[in-house]
Amino acid sequence: MLSFPFRLLLVSTLFFLSHQTVDDATVHVLQSWKFVDFLYPSEEARSVARQQRQYTPEHVVILDSDWYFSPDTAQKRIFVTTPNFRSGIPATLSEVTRERNGDGPLLRPFPSWDSASQTTCEGPVSVYRIHIDRCGLLWALDTGRVETFTNPRRACRPKLVIYDLKNNDRIIARYEFPDGPVNDRSNLASIAIESYQNDCRDSVAYIADPNTYGLVVFNLTEKSSYRVNHNFFHPFPHKGTITINEVSFDLMDGIIGLTLSPPTDNPRKLFFHSLASVRESWVPTTVLRNRTLIENASLARSEFFISEDVREGQSIQEVMTDDGILIYSLLPKMAIACWNSAKPFKKENQHIIYQDSENLQFISGLKLKDNKYLLITTSRLQNYINGDLHNEDVKYRMIVIDDVEQLLQGTPCKRTPNGGKMLSAKHKQPPRHGRSF
Ligand SMILES: *[C@@H]1O[C@H](CO)[C@@H](O)[C@H](O)[C@H]1NC(C)=O
Ligand SMILES: *[C@@H]1O[C@H](CO)[C@@H](O)[C@H](O)[C@H]1NC(C)=O
Ligand SMILES: *[C@@H]1O[C@H](CO)[C@@H](O)[C@H](O)[C@H]1NC(C)=O
Repeated sequence: MLSFPFRLLLVSTLFFLSHQTVDDATVHVLQSWKFVDFLYPSEEARSVARQQRQYTPEHVVILDSDWYFSPDTAQKRIFVTTPNFRSGIPATLSEVTRERNGDGPLLRPFPSWDSASQTTCEGPVSVYRIHIDRCGLLWALDTGRVETFTNPRRACRPKLVIYDLKNNDRIIARYEFPDGPVNDRSNLASIAIESYQNDCRDSVAYIADPNTYGLVVFNLTEKSSYRVNHNFFHPFPHKGTITINEVSFDLMDGIIGLTLSPPTDNPRKLFFHSLASVRESWVPTTVLRNRTLIENASLARSEFFISEDVREGQSIQEVMTDDGILIYSLLPKMAIACWNSAKPFKKENQHIIYQDSENLQFISGLKLKDNKYLLITTSRLQNYINGDLHNEDVKYRMIVIDDVEQLLQGTPCKRTPNGGKMLSAKHKQPPRHGRSF
């Protein structure tokens, strides 16, 4: 349970709806929505869209968000995703505008209304998650699947589209995943990016496919991709039921949470976990990037690690700070927790840093910006899945913790007796066979 005293600050502006402090860090609700609405060219256009069922407000779910601070205009541009879970989603990727209706800020489809209303596979079809990197590149991972909750099917090939927000949102890459890396049941849902050069053009993306239990490695220079398979990408059946705020649902998803250890870590690792799981895994990225090694299953198998111990519940997204502290959602606890990766992944080395049973219902997005701001997106998806959304409830929130260092101060995650050395995967090799999860 949360041990911090909560202090409520009575501050309210357009962009910061409310503030709380958790120790010295401040928690802002940056944006919130009861229902999601769009900036239509006219009121008439909106009512036509509603009549023709191109826009059904109660079907639109905000799943993920990210922001870009534009040095030119000194303004923050905020982007959100609204996946094609059901019919009546006018756009799947949008920018948050300063226009509002009663329920929250209106969304402007990104890159344009035109691209959103196309019936071809050219524009965004169903984006679950986005990532805006330090170079101002917006990576939009498009599942290509439509009506996931009602009549799931692949309408278009999954694709990755990269927009350069520093250069008029120009598209610098548009890549359709071929068969092999993906198949027709794939649902590319999460992305982590590794890059070392100043312009980020050397990037490699690691992409989770929780439906078919695979990881796709995409090389931006080559515009090529391949698939990695491993047992640790699978779900654990007895963790397939998730309960949030007394609502239970089943989700037998595999690999979903992905994040990289700091660039200084040697070897750098990809941390990951399945949704129906309470364990954490990792693999050196040198292994993932070595295709020869990956193609030899017996060689690659032993390079992956999984924690012997568990976390307190299922998790979706996770991020890692520059000093190797993993920050992850804990869905059933309606909380954000931390673990110092220099220590074993044991209960005593994990710690809840923020818990809120109102604001943190179904944490579906998590970003760490500039190693300082923790951006949390919550979506009450448990109610959406079970069909009991309430009109008056705030269902979608973007929450910012400023800053994460302060939040971690004084927690077990910050105390590192061995000087903060990263966990050495080689010395933590767990048993790989005969375990019941
Ligand atoms: C991506 O492909 C390029 C061109 O083949 C190669 O030089 C580079 O090493 C690859 N990047 C990574 C990180 O594997
Ligand atoms: C890739 O892995 C193979 C097999 O372990 C190894 O022989 C080779 O040196 C590795 N390549 C690179 C670039 O690390
Ligand atoms: C995989 O690597 C092992 C060990 O180096 C080697 O003996 C085996 O022939 C390789 N298998 C394939 C299919 O290349």
